[in-house]
Amino acid sequence: MEKRVISTELVEEDIKIENNLRPLALEDYIGQEKVKRNLKVYIEAAKARNDSLDHVLFYGPPGLGKTTLAGIIANEMGTHLKVTSGPAIEKPGEMAAILNNLAEGDVLFVDEIHRLNRQVEEVLYPAMEDYQIDVMIGKGATARSIRLELPKFTLVGATTRAGLLSAPLRDRFGVVNHLEYYTVKELETIIIRSANVLGVEIDSQGANELARRSRGTPRLANRLLKRVRDFAQVKYDGRITGEVADYALNLLDVDRDGLDANDRLILGTIIKKFGGGPVGLDTLAASIGEDAGTLEDVYEPYLIQNGFINRTPRGRVATNEAYLNLGIEQKV
Ligand SMILES: Nc1ncnc2c1ncn2[C@@H]1O[C@H](COP(=O)(O)OP(=O)(O)OP(=O)(O)O)[C@@H](O)[C@H]1O
Ligand SMILES: [Mg+2]
Repeated sequence: MEKRVISTELVEEDIKIENNLRPLALEDYIGQEKVKRNLKVYIEAAKARNDSLDHVLFYGPPGLGKTTLAGIIANEMGTHLKVTSGPAIEKPGEMAAILNNLAEGDVLFVDEIHRLNRQVEEVLYPAMEDYQIDVMIGKGATARSIRLELPKFTLVGATTRAGLLSAPLRDRFGVVNHLEYYTVKELETIIIRSANVLGVEIDSQGANELARRSRGTPRLANRLLKRVRDFAQVKYDGRITGEVADYALNLLDVDRDGLDANDRLILGTIIKKFGGGPVGLDTLAASIGEDAGTLEDVYEPYLIQNGFINRTPRGRVATNEAYLNLGIEQKV
């Protein structure tokens, strides 16, 4: 299957626009009301005590705003943000050096924190709990460990796979937040805000058309906005209306349910080859020429979450929504 315009993972074309589009204040961060309310209380309390903020973990699917929130926390606390990621730190000494370079109140953002290796993770335990690390100096018989005091910092961890986080690490976060997919209304607001920042004219139908097709994900909303803007500039007068958005998104092969050709191939296969199901994961994967793991982790979540497929003990079943999307009459 080909590269998907609707992928919610970060891709090359996002990098240029994302930094400009990131809200810097909690007030400008749209949606995730529960998370925001929660953070607001913790931030205000920490500031009132003149203390650092408790360690915060964000988990949820890609592109929903975890990195953005880490920046907002540093900004609201009036401190610096240091950014690193699980796979970037290979040795305990590297983690110790990063921690040792922090200043009082700094926010250390560790993206993909579930990918830290065990030894590196163990450096974090005393650092998070007591703001201390033990480092080994010297080699062989003269080696000894010394204890370093760290400034009071805030660790902000982000992960798309909370289940892969070890229990001792998870337990050391005082604040744990799950990010949810955004509603169409929230995405409309994000799109209008982004259009403003980018200096693009858009009307409410244009924003609605984009929002419906963005799969609950701000990153995708922004990417599609940029694609549609380019189209509007070349083919129309630059203004994004409902008609322009609809036309451009159809060309991009993103339909009104946010499904692309791959999604429709999956639904179509269940319906046409397997009578609507149930069909086992492996059989389905083989008949679309995709491996079962990819089908399950990449394609299915959106289809299941949005009610196009049901997962039953006997296999996958296409729902009424799936028939409606493909315009196929359901036999009863
Ligand atoms: N609540 C929001 N309001 C406005 N814009 C948002 C919001 N959440 C995310 N965005 C936009 O979506 C883009 C992607 O967000 P971000 O990079 O924070 O996602 P992420 O959860 O860290 O993704 P990943 O899991 O891939 O690291 C950002 O550039 C930002 O502009
Ligand atoms: Mg991120």
